[in-house]
Amino acid sequence: MCGIIAAATDRSVGKLLIKGLYKMEYRGYDSAGIAMHVDDQVAHLRTLGKVKLLEERMKLEKPKGKIGIAHTRWATHGEPSELNAHPHQSNDRVFIVHNGIIENYLSLKEELTKEGYAFSSKTDSELIAHLLDRNLKTYNSLLEAVQGLKDRLDGAYAIAALDQNEPDNLVLVRNRSPLVIGLGKNENFAASDPLALAELTNKFLIMEDGDVAKVAPDSVEVFDAKNQLVNREQLTIDIKAEAASKGDFKHYMEKEIFEQPQAVLNTLDGRIGGEDVLENIFGEGSSELLAKVKRVQVVACGTSLHAGRVAANWFSAIAGLPTQMDYASEYRYKNPYIDEDTLLVTISQSGETADTLAALRYANDKDYLGSLAICNVPTSSLARESDFLLLTNAGPEIGVASTKAFTTQLTALMLLTLSLAKATGKNPRLRGRIIKALRFLPEKISEALALKPEILEIAPEIANKNNALFLGRGIFYPIAKEGALKLKEISYIHAEAYPAGELKHGPLALIDGEMPVIAIAPEHELAEKLVSNLEEVKARGGALYVFGNAEERLGLTSGKYINMPDCDFLLTPILYSIPLQILSYEVALLRGTDIDQPRNLAKSVTVE
Ligand code: M6R
Repeated sequence: MCGIIAAATDRSVGKLLIKGLYKMEYRGYDSAGIAMHVDDQVAHLRTLGKVKLLEERMKLEKPKGKIGIAHTRWATHGEPSELNAHPHQSNDRVFIVHNGIIENYLSLKEELTKEGYAFSSKTDSELIAHLLDRNLKTYNSLLEAVQGLKDRLDGAYAIAALDQNEPDNLVLVRNRSPLVIGLGKNENFAASDPLALAELTNKFLIMEDGDVAKVAPDSVEVFDAKNQLVNREQLTIDIKAEAASKGDFKHYMEKEIFEQPQAVLNTLDGRIGGEDVLENIFGEGSSELLAKVKRVQVVACGTSLHAGRVAANWFSAIAGLPTQMDYASEYRYKNPYIDEDTLLVTISQSGETADTLAALRYANDKDYLGSLAICNVPTSSLARESDFLLLTNAGPEIGVASTKAFTTQLTALMLLTLSLAKATGKNPRLRGRIIKALRFLPEKISEALALKPEILEIAPEIANKNNALFLGRGIFYPIAKEGALKLKEISYIHAEAYPAGELKHGPLALIDGEMPVIAIAPEHELAEKLVSNLEEVKARGGALYVFGNAEERLGLTSGKYINMPDCDFLLTPILYSIPLQILSYEVALLRGTDIDQPRNLAKSVTVE
C-alpha cells in the first residue's frame, strides 16, 4: 500500500530516490519522506502530501548523501500527517521505511513503552525502528539486528533500514510484502516495484519471504529465512521508459484507456492459432490439468472480480462448467466448498493484492485440483506462487482506476474459457468463431475509442449530478458494475449497478430527473426485456444514456443513444467497457478530481 525505494550508490542519491518515489506514487500518496547518510549523521525529511512537496523540501535543504531510503505512504494506522510519515526513527540512530501491516503492534508497543521508548506517531511502523535500536544493543550489526526482528513481527512487511553507525550499507527484509533488489554498476537499489528502478537497471533479484539483504554500493548479500547466505535467481526485466510515462496524455488513465488495442493484442500474441487456442499457454502441463476441471472457483477483488463475473458466464456457456465467485476478502471466512475437481482461478493486475494472495495461500493448503492466476506483473507473489499463470501483458498500469488491466483480464479469461472447452472437446465450431472474432477485437476497441466525441457531449450532464445508476442484463451486469465502480472511484459521484430487471424491486424509487441512468444494451436475447426496463425509467423522468448497436430495434423515444461497433456477442462485454471508461474519465476531468490518484485510494492494496 506504500512504496519503498532504497539505494546504495557512489553518487548523490537524493534525486534518484525522489524519481523512484514519483513512479510509486500510485501505491500511496498521502505523505512522503527520505533518510540518507550524510557525513556521520542521517538527514531525515518528511512531508505531508504528495512527493512533489518532499522534492521541494529537498531543494531547500539540499541534503547530499550516497546511501538512503525513501517512502510514499497510504495511511493504514494513523492519519496522514508528517509525524506518521516514514521514515520512522529511534534515538536518531535507526531509520526505517515499512510497507505492510504489523499485526501484533499493540503488544510490541506496550513492551517497548515499558522499556522507555517514546512513540511520536500513531503508526504500526515506528516500533520497528525502536525494536531495531534495542536489538543493536545486543547484536553486532544492523544485519543481525534485522534478522532478529523476524521472530518478533507478525504480519506483512517489507522494510529498509539505516543505522547511523553503518554509513556504508542499508539492510532490507521482506515477508509477504513485495520488495525487489536492483543491481547496478557500483550501485544497488531496492524498491516495492521494479518500475521504480526502470531507468537505473534491468537486473533484479526477487526477495523471498523471510529474506534479509545487506546492500552496499559494490555488494548485495541475501540471507534466507534461516539466515543462510543464498543466491537468489537474477532476472532481467526490461521496462520501456515510455511505459512508465504519460506521453502526450493528461493522465495515465487516459493513456491506458487508449493503449487498449495494443494491450489486448499483446494478451493474444502467441496464444491463439488458426482456429483454436494453443496448448499449454498457462504453463507446461496445463492442458492436461484443464481436462480434469469439473468446477471453477474464482477469487479476486474490485475490477478483477468484475472480470471474473463476466468469465463465469463464459465458463458456463462455452465450457459447460459451473463457477463459484467470491470476493477475496470474504472467501477464506465462509468455509468454502473445496474438492479435487475444482480449479482455483485468481485474477489480479498487481499480483500483490493482500486479500487475493491470502486466498491463494489458503487454497494452496487445500485439496484443489490446482491454482491458476491471471495477472499482469510477472515478478509478483501471485504469479510466483500459483501452479499455472497467464500474464495479461498489458504493460505497467499506473492510474489507480483499472482500465487496460480489465480488458486484458477479460481477454485472458476468454483464452482460459476456450482452453477449458478445448480440453474436453466442447464447442469446436464456436471456439473457431471466437478465435476469429478475437483477432478483430483490437480493431473493434479502436472503433469504440473513436466514440470519444459523442461521450464528450454527455459527460457534462453526468458531471453535475450526485448519483448515477448503471444497468445491464446477463453478461452485461458485471460491465454495469465495473462502469459504476469506475465512475465513483475517480469522480466521487455515487454510482450503483443493477441487473435491469431488479429495478422495479426497489431502486426504481430513486428515479427522478436528477438520476442519470446508463444502460448497456447491445442486441441480445434479453434486449427486449431491457427495453421494457428502460421504459420504466423513462416513465419516471429519469435521464437515459444508452450504449447499444440496434437503435431501431430498441425503439427508444427519448434519452441519448450511442451506437457501438458490432462485434461477436460473446466479446461485447470487453467492447462495452471502453465507452464507460471514457465517460468516467471525462466526468472526473470536468469535476477536477485527482484522476490518477483519487482520494483515499491506492493502486496496490497490500493490506488485508
Ligand atoms: O491488483 P488487483 O487487480 O488485485 O487489484 C484489485 C482492486 O484493488 C482493483 O481492481 C481496484 O478495484 C481498482 N482500483 C478499480 O479500478
